Amino acid sequence: MQQAEMVQRENWRSRLGFIMAAAGSAIGLGNIWRFPYLTGMNGGGAFIVIYLMCVIFVGLSIMIAEFAVGRKTGLAAVGAYKAHNRSWSFAGALGVLSGFFIMGFYPVVGGWSLAYMIKSVTGLLSVPEAIPDYFGAFITAPTEPLIWMLLYLAINVLIVARGVAEGIETAGKILMPTLFALLIFIIFRSVSLPGAGAGLRYLFVPDWSQVTGQTVLAALGQAFFSLSLGMGCMITYGSYLSKKENIPSNALTVVTMDTTAAIMAGLAMFPALFSFGMEPAQGPGLVFVVIPSLFAQMGSMGVLLSVIFFGALTIAALTSSISLLEVVVAYLMDEHKVERRKATFAASTVMAIMCILSSLSMGVLSGVQIFGVGFFDFFDILTDKIFLAIGGMLLAIFVGWFMDKEELRTELTNDGTVTFSFFELWYNLIKYVIPVAIAVVAAMGIAAIEQTSLMIFGLLVIVVLAIFSKKL
Ligand code: PHE
Repeated sequence: MQQAEMVQRENWRSRLGFIMAAAGSAIGLGNIWRFPYLTGMNGGGAFIVIYLMCVIFVGLSIMIAEFAVGRKTGLAAVGAYKAHNRSWSFAGALGVLSGFFIMGFYPVVGGWSLAYMIKSVTGLLSVPEAIPDYFGAFITAPTEPLIWMLLYLAINVLIVARGVAEGIETAGKILMPTLFALLIFIIFRSVSLPGAGAGLRYLFVPDWSQVTGQTVLAALGQAFFSLSLGMGCMITYGSYLSKKENIPSNALTVVTMDTTAAIMAGLAMFPALFSFGMEPAQGPGLVFVVIPSLFAQMGSMGVLLSVIFFGALTIAALTSSISLLEVVVAYLMDEHKVERRKATFAASTVMAIMCILSSLSMGVLSGVQIFGVGFFDFFDILTDKIFLAIGGMLLAIFVGWFMDKEELRTELTNDGTVTFSFFELWYNLIKYVIPVAIAVVAAMGIAAIEQTSLMIFGLLVIVVLAIFSKKL
């Protein structure tokens, strides 16, 4: 049986190959761009503590579950659910929809990163005082960010249409360590600036007074987003995982790498930010303002480092967004028999339109609102605060209540050949704790939120998908 699986399903050539691909999907803009700015918008240390709890108690367990479902069925998200029970197709389809909508704003930020790589050489760093205003002017401009976004999206399309992510994964293998090394360098630089201590206190001394239901929902959503969970991406990766690999330890490695990257990004940015006397609640511009300001103090060496930093960030973003695009393309190919190239072009054309709207919502379309928010926020909030969390909850319910416990044990211990001492704990977390916890956090978030209509819209979409589940 193992033999048959091996023939059908291409396996990761090496353990490192799998870890790098899964970590490549996980580590991206979520860690370097989104995590620091959310931390700054949600009061610092308290947000980080809640985030870490979400990662440890929810994220890790869900990642183990996704790998297990993928490897057991040998199928990508929708197929894996469907193979088990047709009425569950909607949970897989919800994941595809999440990937699709995340691609409605992710390439916009990928484009900013690409632009900043080039702009580092063309004078961005020469007037340090102008850096904060420059970012605002750049993203609100009507055409320039669109060009960068389309360029970024085109790179994704080229890679996914040819069906070979090898090139980019090789680039990731070199640039991911580069990104880590650079972050370490920036951290040293950042903490040695005058007044940096205030930044460290902000990160590590929690101020609980700012915490609301929204903070907790933001942290949970960020954990799913950053770990690429709740949308079937890791189910798909798990389907390629060799039967010999230890799932829990692989999951632990990926989660640790992803979380380390996020914390390092925070450590790199906040001490410098406080030293420069900037506002922690900068919002989405944080990395694009703090990092160039820091490098601007270092002369031509700073220019070089800035190019490398934004280059590495762009590659990290690419290894994430190709996994998002691939989820959508794989669905069209497997379930609707669309040819790879056609599927890629069709999906990316719609994504380009969503991204144009998202990008323009920063500037000329800032007055246009759907469900009380602009386009960029619409795609962002809909996916990470609603779809991913509910997607994770559905997966937990599916695994905990609809799969056989002993089969899961067999899968996670490779038929008893490796030990997983926390199996019972993991199983109970998945079956009881996580579904309830996500429901409570979602309810708290809905209760505290300004965007109630958007939340209700998101939930309605899920209900509609569930009703039409058998057609998906
Ligand atoms: N985890 C990626 C990041 O942090 C984004 C992502 C989400 C990728 C979901 C795939 C699936 O940038």
